[in-house]
Amino acid sequence: MQNINGKTKLYGLIANPVEHTKSPLIHNGISDLLGINSVYLPFLVKDSLEEAINGAKALNIQGLNVTIPYKQDVIKYLDEIDQEAKEIGAVNTIIIKNDKLIGYNTDARGLARDCKRQGVSFDNKNVCILGAGGAANAVAILCAKSNVNKLYIVNRTMSKAETLRDMIRMYYKSLDITCLSYDDIYKIDDIDICVQTTSLGMSPYIDRSPIDNNEFFEKLEVVVDIVYNPRQTKFLKDAAKHGVMIINGLGMLYYQAVEAYEIWNDIVISDQDIEIGYLALQDNVYSCN
Ligand code: ATR
Repeated sequence: MQNINGKTKLYGLIANPVEHTKSPLIHNGISDLLGINSVYLPFLVKDSLEEAINGAKALNIQGLNVTIPYKQDVIKYLDEIDQEAKEIGAVNTIIIKNDKLIGYNTDARGLARDCKRQGVSFDNKNVCILGAGGAANAVAILCAKSNVNKLYIVNRTMSKAETLRDMIRMYYKSLDITCLSYDDIYKIDDIDICVQTTSLGMSPYIDRSPIDNNEFFEKLEVVVDIVYNPRQTKFLKDAAKHGVMIINGLGMLYYQAVEAYEIWNDIVISDQDIEIGYLALQDNVYSCN
């Protein structure tokens, strides 16, 4: 870490819980790599979100990441919100500048950058999203912006899938969106890419997948799981057995942080430095696996 002095810029993450976050590792790692005098800290905000935001302003903190459970609630304390964050309905990055708070959401762009790095494009593809929570929202906006041909939203609670569909249609009226139950996805045979956004596959549900009939994978090209720990969820393992290309959530986690770093510092990080940071994160997260 840099020598901390009177010019050190402070950034942080507000969340509850916060202790398992990998964000300090990513952000402080990039600062070290680029020789930028800044520090990123995790802040546990138990309940008083408004006080935390005002405190950040008062302490001249330059930027914040926001995660569970505050991504939506924080919006009411912001002065401005970027269009993509508005469409996603959640903010994960705040820049504090000239006493103003501006909110962004870098999740969709994070996933887009990781997919691009791996040579995967959503353009003109039929994409299926499993889940309809906050993470699904960002993926759906990415699909809408990426000119997908058809979007399927599959969720256990159909009303939530329909709410997500209606939110996306507010901004992307002509996007072809179909809501499906898990029982009905086996009737669809034109899915190219499937993105898993539920918590199934993550501890304590590591032996579970939202897909219980592996025939589903037969015609797919790519599956993405936003979970990164375990490295391969049951969903990814089942897909791999069918020869489908698999992408886990580590890249999305990394690139949403890179995007935030670039917004805060108004820079574009070189591909070479981005790769060094990614490999360091990968080593840290999977060194015991
Ligand atoms: P996040 O913000 O991380 O996306 P969330 O908003 O709580 O989290 O959304 C969780 C998603 O996982 C939802 O789509 C949820 O389905 P429901 O809307 O039906 O609750 C999905 N999910 C959670 N547990 C599930 C399970 N056992 N089977 C299928 N889907 C599940």
